Amino acid sequence: MRVIIEKDYEAMSKRAAQFVAELVRNKPDCVLGLATGSTPVSMYKELTRMHKEEGLDFSLVTTFNLDEYYGLPPDHEQSYYYFMQENLFKHINVSPHRVRVPSGLAKDVKAYCESYERMIKEVGGIDIQVLGIGGDGHIAFNEPGSSLASRTRLVALDEQTIKDNARFFEKEEDVPRYAITMGVGTILEAKRLMLLANGKKKAKVVAQAIEGPVTSQITASALQLHPDVIVVLDEEAASELKRREYYLHAEKMIQEFYGG
Ligand code: F6R
Repeated sequence: MRVIIEKDYEAMSKRAAQFVAELVRNKPDCVLGLATGSTPVSMYKELTRMHKEEGLDFSLVTTFNLDEYYGLPPDHEQSYYYFMQENLFKHINVSPHRVRVPSGLAKDVKAYCESYERMIKEVGGIDIQVLGIGGDGHIAFNEPGSSLASRTRLVALDEQTIKDNARFFEKEEDVPRYAITMGVGTILEAKRLMLLANGKKKAKVVAQAIEGPVTSQITASALQLHPDVIVVLDEEAASELKRREYYLHAEKMIQEFYGG
């Protein structure tokens, strides 16, 4: 696991965008796994800037989002589809045909979830999966207790997640109670994982995920099982890591070894 600590949210976001941009340049028809939430917003801004100012070309890129609230149509302002349009898709030249966000309106949910998995396989799998981490240690909507082998499915949201996400809705009762989410097992099949976290509020759970035991109680801890993980943090989110000094040292040494 490569742990990169940047001084603040902006630096964290730029660094994360560089990893995505590097992949898009080296493999123009790559498959990006994307996340919503507050954490990746500035990374998406930086990717938009790179597209506009540096010509970063998304025309052949395919994207898969991690999750969607169940019951919300794509044009609902709080749907994750809407979020992606507003924060990234409408600003870059990704083809609408290559954009996938789980449907919040699927009728036969089980069949739909299987088809989502199939679509990922058909394009050869996800090259880099961007992840945030929830206050309860979740990745995507894999709440504590989700199997580390879980697949795309309908889940009931945890009370904590409903509270955390209420800030985006008029009132807490408006937050959907269900979501469709990629499973932990689905996520672990991506070729590379990149977890982002910023702010003091995430410090404890980040330390549990990276340095604690692998447990279904903190589904982000499953990242420890993957061979190619980059964790990009700001100073605050890194503040409770026991091995913080080592990560800083290791990153410097690795940069020196590979020359930048
Ligand atoms: C979003 C997602 C969630 C968030 C997590 C952190 O697609 O899958 O797991 O990444 O809840 O949310 P923020 O970034 O708002 O703190």
